[in-house]
Formats: sequence, structure tokens, C-alpha cells
Amino acid sequence: MVKSQSRRCCLCILALVCSAAIICLCIYFANKNTCEFTHAAVSADSEMCSNIGRDMLRQGGSAVDGAIAALLCTGLVNPQSMGLGGGAIFTIMDKIGKVKIISSRETVPKSVRADLLKDCPKTLTLTTGSQWIGVPGELRGYERAHQLYGKLPWAKLFEPTIKLAREGFPMPVYLSRFLQFDMIKMLIQNSQLCELFCHKNKTVFGPGDILKFPKLAETMETIAKEGADAFYTGKIGKDLIQDVQAAGGVISLEDLKAFQVRVSDAWSVQLGVYKMHFPPPPSGGPILNFILQLMHGFKLSPASVQGDQKNLTLHRYLEAAKFATGQKHNLRDPLFNSRDMTYITDEKFIESIRALISDGSTQEASYYNINPSADRFGTTHVSVMAADGTAVSVTSTINHMFGSSIYSPKTGIILNNELADFCGRADSVTPGEDLSPKISSYFSHILNILVTLLSNVFTGEQPPSSMAPAILQSSSQQKTLVIGGSGGSMITTAMALSIMNHLWFGMSLNESIAAKIVFVDSKNTVNFEHGYHKTAIEAMKALGHNVKGYPFFFNVVNAVSKEGHCLSAVSDARKNGRSAGY
Ligand SMILES: *[C@@H]1O[C@H](CO)[C@@H](O)[C@H](O)[C@H]1NC(C)=O
Ligand SMILES: *[C@@H]1O[C@H](CO)[C@@H](O)[C@H](O)[C@H]1NC(C)=O
Ligand SMILES: *[C@@H]1O[C@H](CO)[C@@H](O)[C@H](O)[C@H]1NC(C)=O
Repeated sequence: MVKSQSRRCCLCILALVCSAAIICLCIYFANKNTCEFTHAAVSADSEMCSNIGRDMLRQGGSAVDGAIAALLCTGLVNPQSMGLGGGAIFTIMDKIGKVKIISSRETVPKSVRADLLKDCPKTLTLTTGSQWIGVPGELRGYERAHQLYGKLPWAKLFEPTIKLAREGFPMPVYLSRFLQFDMIKMLIQNSQLCELFCHKNKTVFGPGDILKFPKLAETMETIAKEGADAFYTGKIGKDLIQDVQAAGGVISLEDLKAFQVRVSDAWSVQLGVYKMHFPPPPSGGPILNFILQLMHGFKLSPASVQGDQKNLTLHRYLEAAKFATGQKHNLRDPLFNSRDMTYITDEKFIESIRALISDGSTQEASYYNINPSADRFGTTHVSVMAADGTAVSVTSTINHMFGSSIYSPKTGIILNNELADFCGRADSVTPGEDLSPKISSYFSHILNILVTLLSNVFTGEQPPSSMAPAILQSSSQQKTLVIGGSGGSMITTAMALSIMNHLWFGMSLNESIAAKIVFVDSKNTVNFEHGYHKTAIEAMKALGHNVKGYPFFFNVVNAVSKEGHCLSAVSDARKNGRSAGY
């Protein structure tokens, strides 16, 4: 009796243990199947740089640590897009969900030519030359972000990239394809950039060639040891300025010393059940938000892109994008322009614009307030979520491909052409204000002290931008989306479409970013990415949209999303991107 009872008991326990084990395994595999990552993830432009960012996170780094390490790496893999000679805008969410902006976008130098904007090109082209160089802010941005949110030592973030720069790595596929374009090939072969990207016989590298950045490795080593001051007030700065001035540029050591990074609260706006956080003007954040707010009012759902709704939704989007282009003229640095742009998030304003969208017709450019101008392309983006709940969305740029195309041989740095971003948007540019000569010396002395305390005034105007690094979080905090893009004027378009695809049309993050885009340019023409559905294009032509074709689409979106405890990360395949996580 006792024996059989205890045997039964044993069997029972065994059965219980077995079912518990099966349940555990099921949960494990279910999670494994549905969760791409469960701790942290990085979406940068390339697998190598996403991996470098992820390794920092694995070692206990914050999202900022991961982002900086991935950005440094991207400066080597996509040196045409970004680097220490450029500027960046960070959108950073801390553990309790508070979102800050760190902007180290380039500024107008003190001795800028007053009539600079007379040189603005009228058509889409590379705008090269030393007159377009803005005061580089990139490193001051990293420095401040790291001071406020970094966990790992500063020097550690540089280690993997210094090694890559010194030892070299095979030409990235994207870059080598790019160097084969005639326009780019000519640019490289006829400039000092040839030192980096050419064989001894002065022809550009191809696939399989090894890319090295020995001078930049030295520069980064010094900055890793001595901090950003080595660049802004030390030897690197002096060398850089000598090279820039030798190329005819006007940036001075005083400009570098005066550069101020700007830290502010994000603009945070309710978008349905999500709160969207993005940087204020002169970033493209308000434009992105404007498109999404306009579209949100059309009560979009997966049905909006199915069957008979499809053409209408696309048409409404194009109209919204045109009104957004019309708003771009108002995007200026608030420190230097009295125009207040907060109206663009106002519900009544959005509604009034939505009422101007007619479902059956299109209008002339002036209806949308579009003043035809030229578009621009370039830039990179990194999205990061760390295991501690911090998140970073950062967009960084030297502006056009290879920036100004001015290379500093002493430091290994490629200089931006950010001032070209004023073209088509502004009539004049404002250098850092020097108040002293205007007022009697006594007052000017006091003023100087005040002004130095308020510091921003000595730094120059920031050019308007399309960069819109964003973080969206649902009110239940169940879902967070860290997203941003590159591709100049195409940034806000590509981001808006990806966000709509994912949050409203029910696509996976991967599908949302892979979906073909349509870009309304600054001349009010509509450009469909190669491979876009033909019937949709015909429908838009029939509605009167001025459809033309761009030969190149440089739009790239990199994003990380977190739902519950599951993370997924996508780097755009258009730039051969691969994300990483664990
Ligand atoms: C230049 O040098 C590279 C590498 O040595 C070689 O592959 C290429 O054919 C050369 N091109 C010309 C035009 O000589
Ligand atoms: C969308 O427009 C195209 C081209 O005019 C047309 O062939 C198609 O039937 C339209 N779709 C719907 C659902 O109306
Ligand atoms: C993501 O989308 C791309 C392009 O459609 C596809 O090639 C890739 O296999 C997808 N990856 C995943 C993980 O779904």
C-alpha cells in the first residue's frame, strides 16, 4: 500500500516536473522566435559599426556610449557621410523617460563672407569649397553627451575605431560602389581626398582594396587621451585651422574655442497613443511632426493602404508632404531669428492645413507655399536602446557627400559644407555676435560678462536641417520606437513613411523601412523610388501630381523598437546596413 502510494506520488511529481519543463521550454522558444533581441540593440549604417556599438552596451555602456562608439566607426565606413569635421543632433531618453536634446550642429564662423549665399547653386549638385565650412561641433556633442549620460570611460569608446583606422579594413561595398560614380570619382581624384581613397597612380579604390586612416587614427588617439579640448583649444585645432586656411577657408581658432554645444528639452508632442520626442528648430523634427500630425487626422489604419483606400491615402500623403515643404522656409535657428515656430505643433493650425487638402485634386506650388529651391543629400543615423532603458537617436553629418571636399592632411579630418544648408532657406547668415565694438567700452565689458554667461550668443547661427532624430513612446510605455534617417531632404519623407507604415499600417519594422518611398522635392515634383507600384504612380498622375523620376534615392532609415521586453532593430538595406544586439 505505502509503496504503491509513494510510487504514485513520485509519478505525480515527475509528471509535474516534466510539464513545468515543457512550459519553460515553450516560453523560451516562443521568446526566441518572436524576440530578435531581449537586452539591447544598435542600428547603425553598417554591421561593423552596429557591432562596435553593441559591444559597448554588452560591457555595461549606456545608450550614449554605444551611439558614440558606433558614430566614430561610421566616420570610417561612410566617411562621405559624417566625421569629426561635421556636427550631430542627439535625442536622448534617460531611464525615467525624460528626453533631452544635445545639438552640436555646425555654426557660422565669425569671418564669414557677407554675400556667401550668392554662391548658392540653383540645381541639385555637390556644393564644394572651403567657403561652405561651418565650425565643426561633432566632438563637443560627444563630449557633452558622455559627461551627462556616459558610463564607460571616454577613451574606451575610441579603441575599436582607432584600431580599424590604423590597421585598415576592406573597402565597404557601399562606399566602393559610390566612388565609381563619375561625379564622385572626379571629385576625389582632383582633390586632396585622393590621399585617402586613391591608389598611388591616383585612381580611386575599388572593391577589395584596403582602406586605412593613419592620420585620423593619431588624431583620435590624442582626443581619446586628452578629450575634446585637444580639438577645440589644442594642437589638433591649430593643425586643422592651418589646413583649412591653406584651402582658403575663414574658420579660426577663435571660432573653435567659442563653439558651444546646445542642450535643451525635446519638443514632445502627442501623436495618437504615442508621444513623439524630437529636436526643436532648426532641425527637421518639427517638419516630420507636422506631416505625421496632418496624416493622423485622417484616422489611418491597415485598411487605409488596402483596396479602394490605397490611392486616396497616397494622394493625401503627397499633399501633406507638399505643405511640409512649404513650411521648411520657417525653419531657422531660434537664437538668431525672432520667428517662433511652435505654431507648427498647434492642433488648430494643423486642422486648418488639413482642410486645405482636397481629395480629388492637386494645386500649384504657391498653394502649398513652396518656393522652388534645390534639394540636398548626405548624412548618417544611429539608433540605440541599452539594457538599462536608456535610448539614443542621433543623426550626424558633414552635409553633402564628402562635405566641402576639403581634407585636412595634418589631422586626417574631412570638413563639412554645412553652410550650404542656408541655400534656398535664408537670405543671409549670422556669425557669432561680437557686441563689444558697438557700445562704449565700460558697458561692453559688463555686457561681455553677461553674454559669456549666456554663452550661446558668441557662437554663430546654426543652418536649418532636415535631421530629425526621434523617439516615440506609447502612453502605456509598452512600446518605444527609436528612429532616424539620413539622405538630406529625403530624411523627413523616409522617416514619416516608415513611422506610418509601422505604427498605423501594421507592417513589421523591417517591412516599414524596406517599403519603397515617394519623395516630394523642393520644386513640388513627386518622385517615386525605383520599384514603386506602377498603378499607384498612374493614379497620382491622373490626379494631377507632377511626377518625375530621381535617378538616386539616398534615403536611409535606421531604427530600434521595443515592445514589452522584445527588441527589434533594423538598419536600412539601401546602405547595406545591418543592426546588432543581444
Ligand atoms: C592603378 O593601380 C591599381 C593598383 O595598383 C591598379 O589595379 C590599376 O589598374 C591602376 N590603374 C591604372 C589606370 O593604371
Ligand atoms: C488606383 O488608381 C489606379 C490608376 O488610376 C487604378 O487602376 C486603380 O483601380 C485605383 N484603385 C482603386 C482601388 O481605386
Ligand atoms: C527585411 O526586409 C528585407 C527587404 O525586404 C529582406 O531582404 C530581409 O530578409 C528582411 N529581414 C527580416 C529579418 O525579415
